[in-house]
Amino acid sequence: MIDGNKVLFSGMQATGNLTLGNYLGALKNWVTLSDEYQCFYSVVDLHSITVRQDPAELRKRARNLLTLYIAAGLDPEKNCIYYQSHVSGHAELAWILNCFTYMGELNRMTQYKDKAAKHADNINAGLFTYPVLMAADILLYQADVVPVGKDQMQHLEITRDIAQRFNAIYGDVFTIPEPYIGKSGASIKSLQNPDKKMSKSDENPNGSIYLMDDEDTIMRKFKRAVTDSEGCVRYNEEQAGIHNLIDIYCACTGKMPQEVEHEFDGRGYGDFKTAVGEAVVSILKPLQARFEELSKDKGYIDGIIKANAEKAGYYASKTLRKVQKKVGFPEKIR
Ligand code: TRP
Repeated sequence: MIDGNKVLFSGMQATGNLTLGNYLGALKNWVTLSDEYQCFYSVVDLHSITVRQDPAELRKRARNLLTLYIAAGLDPEKNCIYYQSHVSGHAELAWILNCFTYMGELNRMTQYKDKAAKHADNINAGLFTYPVLMAADILLYQADVVPVGKDQMQHLEITRDIAQRFNAIYGDVFTIPEPYIGKSGASIKSLQNPDKKMSKSDENPNGSIYLMDDEDTIMRKFKRAVTDSEGCVRYNEEQAGIHNLIDIYCACTGKMPQEVEHEFDGRGYGDFKTAVGEAVVSILKPLQARFEELSKDKGYIDGIIKANAEKAGYYASKTLRKVQKKVGFPEKIR
């Protein structure tokens, strides 16, 4: 609890370009959640170097992501928006938690197995202990809830296991975090392969709408979106492509699927795709404009980076000091 509010933690990596899926599935809902919780939204750059990065590129992307959080409507006075690397407590707690995590547990992580297969030339220890760093992120702020997608659920479970194990030895040190399953974000699929999640690491750029795509690109990608030969706009599992387009349309307009079926009754896919494209443009255009405007204001963004790193650091060191004491580290002489 901070000031009577429950604490929420989440983070995103600044690798790849954010997609409409990241926005509708996560970022947009973060804004709603910030009314209800004391939120920490981190740009998790420590996580990013588990895969080799170009340093200048990483720095640029991280700043863009942080700016985008604000452009999306997260108030940086209310929400703690900061770089993970600016709060050393993440790495310090991760080390301690490493000593409370079993190899066998980490071996079961499906994301590790996937990433190890994808980066066979660089299977580093950081990739293996990635979930422990994620546990540290969450536990450092005594988070009550963590909004995560399905792909991160296993990491949240191991976080809970580590926290419970630690608490069982040392008493109630960590809050046990729950997954946030609320009016959760839409799960947006690839426009080219609607069985797969829309992903920023997709090799086919036509499968994803990137948040910085211009109007023409957006309209073109929707025109090319994979559908089916049914020829009617119906919301059912068999028509995966149309189902996804309806989800996108609903997420952008606030309409219900049934209304959309009705609206496009007897009309072709061409019409529908145009409408979905336009709905997306009408959401992304203002977001892009706000992003451009904020990007130009270096002093303002720098001020937020500084203030929020201090704020996050304050809460982080409270937990860290408690943990250090519990495990038997000597107190600092001041
Ligand atoms: N691993 C998450 C991802 O790639 C990002 C992340 C890092 C995160 N730490 C977190 C998400 C803590 C939620 C809570 O999507």
